[in-house]
Amino acid sequence: MARLRAESFLLASTVVALLALNVLGSEKNHKYADKEQVSLWVNKVGPYNNPQETYNYYYLPFCKLNPKQRAEHSWGGLGEVLQGNELINSQLDIKYKEKLESTRICTMTLDERKADIFEDAIRRQYWFELFMDDLPVWGFVGELKKDDTGNETAYIYTSKRFDVAYNGDRIIQVNLTTADPVPVAPGAKLEFRYSVEWSATKTPFSRRFERYLDYTFFEHKIHWFSLVNSFMMVLFLTGLVAIILMRTLRKDYARYARSAADALDGALDAESLERDFGEESGWKLVHGDVFRPPRQLTLLAAAVGTGVQLVFLCLAVILLTIAGSFFEERGTILTCFIIAYTFTSFIGGYVSGGLYARHEGRHWIRTMLITASLFPGMCFAIAFALNTIAIFYHSLAAVPFAYIMAVLLLWGFISFPLCLIGTVIGRNWNSIPNYPCRVKRIPSPIPGKPWYLRPWAICAAGGLLPFGSIFIEMYFVFTSFWNYKVYYIYGFLLLVVLILCVVTVCVTIVGTYFLLNAENYHWQWTAFGMSASTSFYVFLYSVHYFLLKTKMTGFFQTCFYFGYTSMFCLGLALLCGAMGYMAAAAFVRTIYRNVKCD
Ligand SMILES: *[C@@H]1O[C@H](CO)[C@@H](O)[C@H](O)[C@H]1NC(C)=O
Ligand SMILES: *[C@@H]1O[C@H](CO)[C@@H](O)[C@H](O)[C@H]1NC(C)=O
Repeated sequence: MARLRAESFLLASTVVALLALNVLGSEKNHKYADKEQVSLWVNKVGPYNNPQETYNYYYLPFCKLNPKQRAEHSWGGLGEVLQGNELINSQLDIKYKEKLESTRICTMTLDERKADIFEDAIRRQYWFELFMDDLPVWGFVGELKKDDTGNETAYIYTSKRFDVAYNGDRIIQVNLTTADPVPVAPGAKLEFRYSVEWSATKTPFSRRFERYLDYTFFEHKIHWFSLVNSFMMVLFLTGLVAIILMRTLRKDYARYARSAADALDGALDAESLERDFGEESGWKLVHGDVFRPPRQLTLLAAAVGTGVQLVFLCLAVILLTIAGSFFEERGTILTCFIIAYTFTSFIGGYVSGGLYARHEGRHWIRTMLITASLFPGMCFAIAFALNTIAIFYHSLAAVPFAYIMAVLLLWGFISFPLCLIGTVIGRNWNSIPNYPCRVKRIPSPIPGKPWYLRPWAICAAGGLLPFGSIFIEMYFVFTSFWNYKVYYIYGFLLLVVLILCVVTVCVTIVGTYFLLNAENYHWQWTAFGMSASTSFYVFLYSVHYFLLKTKMTGFFQTCFYFGYTSMFCLGLALLCGAMGYMAAAAFVRTIYRNVKCD
C-alpha cells in the first residue's frame, strides 16, 4: 500500500514537472545575434467573425517553401494546445537585422478545388495568425472587390512585408503588411513573395507587449462609472444587512436583559415565558427546524465544496496573473487555471467533508467522489462534445489525445488524492455541529405564503443585484474573449470579483431573513439557489451578446460559444452559490445563538 502510494506520488510529480517544463520550455531568452536565423511560425486561419472556428494554416492550400521537408512543430504548453494553437515553422529564411528584398516563396496554379477553397475563405473574411519571436501578427487572406457591374470578385494577397523593429539584440515589434491582390479563378498563377525590413527602436523589451493592449477600449469612462455604481450598491446592501442584524439581535438583547432582571426579582414564571413566546413570530418560530439536514445533502456538500474551491482558485489565478503578466503568453492563464484547480482540490474536499459530517451524513465516500468530479466532470462532458465537433470539422480547436490524457492524469493523480485528503481532514477537524438549537423530532408544517416569499421567487430575485454589479465587466470580459482583445486589467477584475462576493453575501443574508420570517426553514438550497441565479442572468446576457454583439455564424461557432459560456456559467453558479450558502449558514447560526430554544 505504502509502495503504491509512493509510486503514484512519483508519477504525479513527474507529470507536474513535465508540465512545468513545458510551460517554461517554450520560453526562449528572446536574444538574437546578427544574422541569426529568426523563425516565423504559422499558426491558424479562420473566419474573422468566428474566433473559435480555427484551422491549421495549411488547411487553406497555401504552398510551402519546401513541400518535401517535414516542417518543425513548436512544442506547445498545455494551455496553448487546449486553446487551439499549433505553431508550424514556415521555413522562411529570415536573418536577424538583415534586410530582405521581395523574395519568392513559391508559385502555384489554382485548380478548380483550390480556387473554390480560397474564394470561400475570402468571402468569409478568413484571417491568419503568424508568430515571430512569440509576437503575433495577423492578416487577412484576401479581399473582395466590386467591379463596375456590382459583382464581387475575390482577390488573394500574394505578398507579405514584415517590418521588424529591434532594440539591441531583441525584437520589439513586428508589423505585417499584405499586398499585391490577385483575382482568384481556376487557372490563375499565383506567386507568393515576402520581404523583411529592419529598423531600430528605443522601446525597451519589457514594454513590447503594450501595443497589443487596447487602452482606449478598456479605460473607458463607463468602466469607472460601473465600478462606482457597484460600490454604491455594496454600501446600500451592507447597510441593509446591518439594519436587519441590528433589529433581530437588539430585540433579543432587550429580552435577555429583561428576563435577567425578572430572574433577579424571582418573578420568572410560566406566564412571562408564555408572553415572550407569544410575541415571537417569524424566524424565531422555526428554531427547532432550521438546523435540520438539508435535502440532497450529498449534492449540497459537493456543490458548496467545489464552489469554495473555485473562490480560492479565482483569487489565486487573478493574483498570479497580475503578478506574472500571464496574459502576454499564449495559454499561460489556462495552464495556471488547470494546475491551480488540481491543487485547490484539497479545499473542496475539506469544505465538503466537513459540511457533510456536520449533518451526520453517512455516505462520505460517495460525497467525496461527487465533490472531486462535479465540476471537472461537467467541464469534461462539455469539452468532449466540443472536441468531437472540432474533430469532425478538422478544426485546430480539437485537442490531441496526449493532452487530454495529461489533463486526466492531473485529475487522477493530484486532484483526486488531494480531495480525498481534504475530505478526511475536513471530517475530523471541521465536523462539530455545535448548533445553538436542537432539531425537533417532527418537522413543523410550512405555512402558505404569498408567491413573493416562496423559495423560487426569492431565488429568482436574488441573482439580480449581484448580476447588476458585474454585468458591465461581463461586457468587457466577453468582448476580450470573443473579439480578439487582450484582457489585461486583472486588478480591475479582482475588484469586481470582490464586489461580487460582498453583494452576493449581503443579498443572500437578506433573502434568508425573509425566507425564515415566512417560517420556511428550507434555507440551505434557497440560499444556494438565490446566489447561484446570478449565473442564470449571466447566461441570459450571453444570449443577448451572441445575438446582438457578435456576428458569429454556423453550427461550429454556435456550439463553441454556448459550450464555453455554459462552462463559465456553471463555474460561476457554483462559486456564487457556495458563497451565498456559507454566508447564510453563518447568519443563521448568529441569529439563533441569541434565541431561547428548548
Ligand atoms: C456576375 O457574376 C456571375 C457569376 O460569376 C455571372 O454569372 C454574372 O454574369 C455576372 N454579372 C455581371 C453583370 O457581370
Ligand atoms: C508598425 O505600425 C505602427 C502603426 O502603424 C507604427 O507606429 C510602427 O512604427 C510600425 N513599426 C515598424 C517596425 O514599422
